Amino acid sequence: MKVTVVGAGAVGASCAEYIAIKDFASEVVLLDIKEGYAEGKAMDLMQTATLNGFDTKITGSTNDYSKTAGSNICVITSGIPRKPGMTREELIGINAGIVKTVATSLIEHSPNTILIVVSNPMDTMTYLAHKVTGLPKNRIIGMGGALDSARFKYRLAEALDAPLSDVDGMVIGGHSDTGMVPLTRLATRNSVPVSEFISAERLEQVKEDTKVGGATLTKLLGTSAWYAPGAAVSALVQSIACDQKKMFPCSVMLNGEYGLNDICIGAPVLLGKNGIESIVEIKLDDAEKANLQESAIGVRNVNDLLNL
Ligand code: LAC
Repeated sequence: MKVTVVGAGAVGASCAEYIAIKDFASEVVLLDIKEGYAEGKAMDLMQTATLNGFDTKITGSTNDYSKTAGSNICVITSGIPRKPGMTREELIGINAGIVKTVATSLIEHSPNTILIVVSNPMDTMTYLAHKVTGLPKNRIIGMGGALDSARFKYRLAEALDAPLSDVDGMVIGGHSDTGMVPLTRLATRNSVPVSEFISAERLEQVKEDTKVGGATLTKLLGTSAWYAPGAAVSALVQSIACDQKKMFPCSVMLNGEYGLNDICIGAPVLLGKNGIESIVEIKLDDAEKANLQESAIGVRNVNDLLNL
């Protein structure tokens, strides 16, 4: 199992680290345009192997895509990250050009790969990856909902004063401050609806805190977060590499599901050896349906900026 991670910045390097620590891939290639940077990160990470107990071989490459040849899974993290006060959507001009070049270069060397898109604005970059590569829809996955759901669970556990392993919940919709749809109605503590434990007002606060989860961290860190994004990507990669068929909300090309067409937006999917094995259509109530439709309008407005 060979995995390529493009972009050796904080998200890309965390992603490579978590994949290596879980020790399910034989090889991880880190690629970056900055001379020597990916090689340096790869060497540093390799020097943790005996300490952290993994055998995954991590190598670095300065923009030489021939090193990525034959990758089973490729992750695109490249592009500029958000600065405090910026929305993910403001990154589109620069990141669209980067994602287009990276996606086509990857496919050239790994025509059978599964692509995971992380670069922001993520739903639009996932849509762009579909348009420029023409890959079947099961082989392009946008990472957003898995991260947003992890942040949702963090906020739920905080509100419930419960251990994180007790709570479950999911965020669908666009990976943006206004587009996320945290499904509070379906969130549970050990299968008991969370509404049994906290007030509607507190749950509303959880929802709002979740939606600005990335922005909150960007303000604290001065750039966008990397541990949880890296961990979320590694969970998706593992589900595909080990054919686990786990369910994650991911940005996926919809063709009629949830009443939406020709758009990549967060919806639950099963991830296995073929990438997206299936899209799971859950029954939403009227408010959730309306929120998802509204979220789709926001994503389409950003897609329109691509001028495809
Ligand atoms: C975040 C970035 C990765 O939400 O979109 O932290």
